Amino acid sequence: MSEKTKTSPFLKWAGGKRKLTVFMNFPEKIGTYYEPFLGGGAVLFHFKPESAFISDKNRELVNTYHVLKYAIDPLIDELKKQHATKEYYYKLRNLDRCLESFELLSEIERAARFIYLNKMCFNGLYRVNKKNHFNVPFGDKKEFLVDEDNLKSVSDYLGSSVIEIFSGDFEEALDYPDDDDFVYLDPPYVPLSTSSFTGYTNTGFTLDDHYRLKTTCDSMNHRGVRFLLSNSDTPFTRALYRDYDIAVVKAARNINSNGGGRGCVNELLITNY
Ligand SMILES: C[S@@+](CC[C@H](N)C(=O)[O-])C[C@H]1O[C@@H](n2cnc3c(N)ncnc32)[C@H](O)[C@@H]1O
Repeated sequence: MSEKTKTSPFLKWAGGKRKLTVFMNFPEKIGTYYEPFLGGGAVLFHFKPESAFISDKNRELVNTYHVLKYAIDPLIDELKKQHATKEYYYKLRNLDRCLESFELLSEIERAARFIYLNKMCFNGLYRVNKKNHFNVPFGDKKEFLVDEDNLKSVSDYLGSSVIEIFSGDFEEALDYPDDDDFVYLDPPYVPLSTSSFTGYTNTGFTLDDHYRLKTTCDSMNHRGVRFLLSNSDTPFTRALYRDYDIAVVKAARNINSNGGGRGCVNELLITNY
């Protein structure tokens, strides 16, 4: 891990793992760090590995990381052009209703839109409907603040280390690690109740996806790849990962789909090392 200046997540992300990092013991020496459910990157920015392969299925999120890495100054200029009004919010939000005109936006415009919607929407939630239209309402904020210093710090980190950024499904990303690499997995959680937020993408994350992830973990385990996986404390999760080490930790939870439900819950940290 590299010596660090402070870099914080630049997004509010449902299920962000900032508060869980104190419980995480990464192996001392690792080759490349893999994080295939990147989201807001709380764990990446906490440990700041020197070599990493980061990915997520959310294409707009991954585009934002790309732009931060390669075009920070134009991105900050674009962010400064945004307005903190309800009318403007809905105008920008609804751009994805017409795919043809959405595809005409530059990568920088799409990244600025993504950051703006994240800051200005209700509760910082990322939710799309089946048509992949972002559908979170306006959060009634009076100001849109651009944290230039932190965005530059994120950009410096992404640019100065060997960081590859990729958009796609976890299974594809997890073909690559080998036995000196380390993988942190933070999938959408197995729901605790029917109101739990597991959305993030228009296809959701089903129990079949959880079985598929477990099979991928078994394959990595056979190849000698070390992994740490976080998930909710449910009988299903405990049974699925019964062959691995399971630690129970208490995490403060901030967001669910209706913005309520704050408090402490048990979560599981599952390891094979
Ligand atoms: C719990 S969040 C990760 C939060 C992150 N650890 C943080 O601290 O912000 C889960 C992430 O998985 C992504 N995701 C959902 N389905 C996926 C899939 N099949 N493959 C890869 N990423 C997926 C979502 O877009 C979301 O960003």
